[in-house]
Amino acid sequence: MSAIPASFRAYVAEKVDDRVERGVRTFAEADLPPGEVEIRVAWSSVNYKDGLATRADGRVARINPLVPGIDLAGEVVSSTDRSIPRGATVVAHGYELGVSRHGGYADYQRVPAGWVVPLVAGLSAREAMAIGTAGFTAAMSVVALEDRGLQPDSGPVLVTGASGGVGGTALAILAARGYEVWAVTGKDDEVPRLRQLGASGILTRDEVTAPGRPLESERWAGAVDAVGGATLPYVLRTLRTGAAVASSGNAGGAALETTVFPFILRGVALLGMDSVNMPIGRRRELWDRLATDLRPAELGVHVTEVGLDELDGPLDAIVAGSARGRWLVRLGRADG
Ligand SMILES: NC(=O)c1ccc[n+]([C@@H]2O[C@H](COP(=O)([O-])OP(=O)(O)OC[C@H]3O[C@@H](n4cnc5c(N)ncnc54)[C@H](OP(=O)(O)O)[C@@H]3O)[C@@H](O)[C@H]2O)c1
Repeated sequence: MSAIPASFRAYVAEKVDDRVERGVRTFAEADLPPGEVEIRVAWSSVNYKDGLATRADGRVARINPLVPGIDLAGEVVSSTDRSIPRGATVVAHGYELGVSRHGGYADYQRVPAGWVVPLVAGLSAREAMAIGTAGFTAAMSVVALEDRGLQPDSGPVLVTGASGGVGGTALAILAARGYEVWAVTGKDDEVPRLRQLGASGILTRDEVTAPGRPLESERWAGAVDAVGGATLPYVLRTLRTGAAVASSGNAGGAALETTVFPFILRGVALLGMDSVNMPIGRRRELWDRLATDLRPAELGVHVTEVGLDELDGPLDAIVAGSARGRWLVRLGRADG
């Protein structure tokens, strides 16, 4: 017997003909998918993919109707898995959540135990969603660069799309770890906030998207890029010999036009980041580190809280590229 009430609130996106109807509806427990762990969701967040999941041309939603929300945090109200006890504060994100299975924009959710990350002391459900999928991907990027040898004394590190979720959290993690971080942004008015987050220097989006030579002066000891498009080629042609860029996104476009010269003349590496399918063991280890040595500076400060009935605006804004920090989605019993 379920510990979830027979009905509760959820934000639903439903494709009708060639448009998507979005809004808060009453959702039936019986319509939730099976799973070992039942969660009272306290917080979710708005990620780029969530915006796409609610657009007719987004090519993300795999079921219809869909409760979007690729991440969630809350309290376990029932569990048949002994390693995840009732009352535990947990996070779940990625895999099929909010894509081919209902996600975090609901007061309750049911998920497989193998997707659940119990949070260690020191990271609240709210803080975990202030990090969210975007911040987790930022942490994954930093770890990938450090596993390849990057250290604070290696030289300046570039973060693109710095006002957004992945970029902003990467900046905050790197700054807290003692790196000299340079931020790329398309938003002049975000510069003071990015400096506050720890940026030592700023580049404008125009500087990094202008056409350039196949190889330019060696500048960056590493880079975190969630923008792609015309930005990633700039990063590749300005990385130092042997340096790497962790590439996770395409907020600026999916096509990649580059030459092979950064790879064959400077040994530069392009490291692909996929947070969605990261195995649960590594995922739990990385969340433990996000509570400790990878904890971002100013965690939970650069967020805007919204309720389920206020989601349309942020979902549209994130796809339009106007994110400033992260949006936290407050669910039924959000209290910490
Ligand atoms: N691989 C994974 O596992 C994974 C996980 C999470 C996210 N992602 C992907 O990473 C990307 C960013 O996600 P996010 O949540 O950080 O999104 P976000 O909060 O919207 O941030 C993206 C940032 O990119 C910059 N940007 C937007 N449009 C641009 C354009 N046309 N040209 C250049 N820069 C542009 C903007 O920053 P500025 O204005 O400051 O330049 C924007 O704030 C998305 O493509 C998302 O799907 C992938």
